Amino acid sequence: MSQTARGRFITLEGGEGTGKSTLQIALRDRLAGQGVEVILTREPGGPPRAEAIRALVLTPPGGQPFSPLAEALLMNAARRDHLDELIRPALAAGTWVICDRFSDSTRVYQGVSGEVSPEVLQNLEDHVVGPTRPDLTLILDAPVSVAHERRAARKGSQDVFEQRDLDFHQSVRLAFSDIARAEPVRCKLIDASRPASEVADAAWSYVAQLLTSAEVH
Ligand SMILES: Nc1ncnc2c1ncn2[C@@H]1O[C@H](COP(=O)(O)OP(=O)(O)OP(=O)(O)O)[C@@H](O)[C@H]1O
Ligand SMILES: [Mg+2]
Repeated sequence: MSQTARGRFITLEGGEGTGKSTLQIALRDRLAGQGVEVILTREPGGPPRAEAIRALVLTPPGGQPFSPLAEALLMNAARRDHLDELIRPALAAGTWVICDRFSDSTRVYQGVSGEVSPEVLQNLEDHVVGPTRPDLTLILDAPVSVAHERRAARKGSQDVFEQRDLDFHQSVRLAFSDIARAEPVRCKLIDASRPASEVADAAWSYVAQLLTSAEVH
């Protein structure tokens, strides 16, 4: 009796407006073209309880953000629900999961103020994510000015993170590239200032490797 192969877990990371959602759809289309069953999801969010936490954190009552520690706890609560309800069952069934933001975003956004130590964030991540580490994390990297122009062109209302100043977005960019440097096997930094099709080609070169390794397992 053959066992169903575990699906692959891909996370997309990077600052606001770098093109994560755009890339997610492109990768879904390319994977579907290879006959791979894939679901798209996002963080914070996914299943209904986690989506409710998303709304609470991104548009907090009264407009004032939670403290970084409270945010970190809420993000991890949402993540645990997401893993239990959606990500782990999908992977176990052989479905690939492409998640728009995951634990690296918590390291970056809740760590960037310096108010929550990296050790606390790492402990939370270890407990919450456990063995369900991403197989591949694509970190989209673009100058803050490029991402800002894209967000401005897209319009729409801004959440509590988007509203922060350029220094904040610059710190976010640096923190993501630090993660890419620290974990080069899992994380691939992608120059996201290029046209979307080129970004998708660069990302696909890594996803295709995962496809090959999935076939031989
Ligand atoms: N490589 C690209 N070149 C030019 N424009 C792009 C590129 N990728 C995405 N865009 C456009 O930039 C805007 C932001 O892209 P997208 O929504 O994919 O970013 P995001 O990283 O998901 O943003 P957010 O963090 O706010 O969800 C969109 O209007 C999208 O069409
Ligand atoms: Mg998006």
